[in-house]
Amino acid sequence: MRIWDIYKFLASLALIAMLARRESLKVLGIETSCDETGIAVYDSDRGLIGEGLYSQVEIHEKFGGVIPELASRDHIRKTLPLINQVLGESGLSKTDLDGIAYTAGPGLVGALLVGASVGRSMAMGLEIPAIGVHHMEGHLLAPMLESDPPDFPFVALLVSGGHTQLVKVDGIGKYEILGESLDDAAGEAFDKVGKMLGLPYPGGPNVARLATRGVGEVFKFPRPMVNRPGLDFSFSGLKTSVRNTIAEHSIDGNLDTQVAANIAKGFEDAVVATLSIKCKRALEYTGLSTLIIAGGVSANVQLREVLDATVAKIQGSLFYAQPKYCTDNGAMIAYAGCQRLMAGEKNDLSIEVRPRWSLESLAAI
Ligand code: KG4
Ligand code: ZN
Repeated sequence: MRIWDIYKFLASLALIAMLARRESLKVLGIETSCDETGIAVYDSDRGLIGEGLYSQVEIHEKFGGVIPELASRDHIRKTLPLINQVLGESGLSKTDLDGIAYTAGPGLVGALLVGASVGRSMAMGLEIPAIGVHHMEGHLLAPMLESDPPDFPFVALLVSGGHTQLVKVDGIGKYEILGESLDDAAGEAFDKVGKMLGLPYPGGPNVARLATRGVGEVFKFPRPMVNRPGLDFSFSGLKTSVRNTIAEHSIDGNLDTQVAANIAKGFEDAVVATLSIKCKRALEYTGLSTLIIAGGVSANVQLREVLDATVAKIQGSLFYAQPKYCTDNGAMIAYAGCQRLMAGEKNDLSIEVRPRWSLESLAAI
């Protein structure tokens, strides 16, 4: 009996020692799908332990939009120095890393190739696994970086510069697209309207800023497709309506600043109302009560406020990431990559990027 007790005691000590030895997984995230070089390190035990972002806005501003070739060239200049900076600031050396996650698509192919080549090559040199991450999965999981993350299942509204999608999410990689934009993405519509109003690139945050000085209801733009059944979106008609209104109210090609602010407000109201109606419909359709919003447009204050109210009416809950994790960043890629690496996924040595890539084709983990 005594020998058995000693044996049990020793066995539990061995288990404690084994757990104590269990190393957390430190994953470097590299985001280069468009015009931001985003780098971060996510630790599976401690959360985010380092991050850095370099925005190319100044480079593309004078052209009024992203020039893909200039984007790739600048990612080449910035990626390695930013990795070095982030590792240095977090007190890590390259050999502390256990895996590398890079955005493999969707996005600009040349820009994606920079992050993929750097990430894959570093992983090969360090003899650690590398994983190509779906950019929109990164966005979708960004609210998980917050201290109060949502539980699965939920409905996700993904609103970025390239995508507007409503997705039923049952777990990581368990995605069902419920609806999407048939033409422009919500962010793209914001950017185009910004350009029409003569605002600097990117239009989204600038239109939102101008709208705060606008008077509501002066211009009531159409809420596209809300009277049709289904969960798809279309923003091109709204964009045309804004263009016509600007033309009607311009004198010698100039628009009064208050009129411009009223148009920005009317446009933002129309986009937010449309997104809100479709989100409510998606929650009803799925029978779920948790909504998350992600992607650049989810940083929009009015969208957050209106959706908060919409979800509160049905006793549901709304989750979103802090603004710096709504727009492109390395943290969401490090987080998503870490989850997939922990599940045993990794890519082989060939470097593959996908400018177009369906969320629904991802493997469940
Ligand atoms: O997710 P993101 O950084 O990049 C893509 O994956 O596309 O999203 C960028 C988009 C741009 O269209 C930008 O104008 C828009 O998000 N955006 C906003 C706001 N902040 C960024 N749109 C409306 N209101 C904002 N506050
Ligand atoms: Zn994005």
